Amino acid sequence: MRPTPRESSPRRYLMCPPAHFTVTYSINPWMDPAKPVDLPLALAQWEDLRDRYLTLGHTVELLDPVPELPDMVFAANGATVVGGRVLGARFAHPERAAEAGAHLAWFRRNGWAEADLWAPEHVNEGEGDFAVTASWILAGSGFRSSPLCRAEAQEFFGRPVIGLELVDPRYYHLDTALCVLDEERDEVMYFPDAFSPGSRSVLERLFPDALRATAEDAAALGLNAVSDGLHVLLPQTATGLFDPLRARGFEPVGMDLGELLKGGGSVKCCTQELRP
Ligand code: ARG
Repeated sequence: MRPTPRESSPRRYLMCPPAHFTVTYSINPWMDPAKPVDLPLALAQWEDLRDRYLTLGHTVELLDPVPELPDMVFAANGATVVGGRVLGARFAHPERAAEAGAHLAWFRRNGWAEADLWAPEHVNEGEGDFAVTASWILAGSGFRSSPLCRAEAQEFFGRPVIGLELVDPRYYHLDTALCVLDEERDEVMYFPDAFSPGSRSVLERLFPDALRATAEDAAALGLNAVSDGLHVLLPQTATGLFDPLRARGFEPVGMDLGELLKGGGSVKCCTQELRP
């Protein structure tokens, strides 16, 4: 079978430098406040990711880090932008609550019209739990985002929202268990065991040709990846994903975000996509 011809398209990302990143509380199983974080290394790893996006021709917008918000580097959680409309976040844990306002303020300052901004009623942790393909918005819940946010997102974006139930605390956000590889083709990769039996059946029905990750690659947070349609940036330790991605015509780009992994996040968590 010949691999599908792939093409990258220029993306606009919002990122937040980990200037105040540390692990002082634990809201997911990856976070251990007893393990020290090497801040200069975290910054260098984050800069590598940003530079890689720039080298690939993408635009990176920057959000100012706030000293009291150590998880702000995980910019994917702060909002979801589809068709130029911004669904704000509402965090499940008080430690991160103030990030939602910082994101909305950024959008206001950067030219978004009030009519295109929505501060949600129900808990949703942005692109941590929302994934966007051409046909659907996938919405994870079980640990963070409320199932009630699905109706809110569907009404706001006018796109069908498909709910997916997460069942393994290590994969507490949808973007730790599923990655959109090609939105136009509705093509994803995911780790089946992270989902409830019913949600697994939904995934099989919607994405029969999906790339299924092994437990090992999922545990390396290999699904916390970002694709531009051709390049797939993912944790370098998720080695089992590289060949299957190449076989599909993608170019895997291994990244080292080992320090940020101590917060329970990797490539995708650090990257919010601003979809025009
Ligand atoms: N420490 C953060 C939290 O638990 C990590 C968030 C990771 N972000 C993501 N999009 N999965 O909320």
